[in-house]
Amino acid sequence: MHKYIVIFIALHVGLFASYITVCKNCHGKNFEKRALGRSKIVKNLKKEEIRKRLNYFKTSNSIMKSYASSLSEKQIEQIAKIFGK
Ligand code: HEC
Repeated sequence: MHKYIVIFIALHVGLFASYITVCKNCHGKNFEKRALGRSKIVKNLKKEEIRKRLNYFKTSNSIMKSYASSLSEKQIEQIAKIFGK
């Protein structure tokens, strides 16, 4: 029983890690940097603001468009929850 829980958590963390790997190149390991020297520091934003910005970028002409477009609602929720205030 315990074994399955451990595998489940490992899988979850693994999947989460993989889809934010690309983000870290610009935003820093913990979203603590100004991406390309001009974004806001994401870890200082409120959960709601992160959610709003990522949904907005999906249809924007920002450099963020392709990255935001590849995120599901659930992934956006996770990012907001983990990194937002
Ligand atoms: C090529 C560099 C780059 C990558 C990769 C990247 N971002 Fe960004 N991100 C930016 C820039 C630049 C901005 C500011 C964009 C703007 O205002 O149009 C930004 C803005 C944001 C914002 C809102 C902060 C603000 O300034 O409004 C969030 C949240 C965010 N990115 C999350 C992510 C996530 C999550 C990923 C990965 C799925 C990601 N970013 C990948 C460069 C990047």
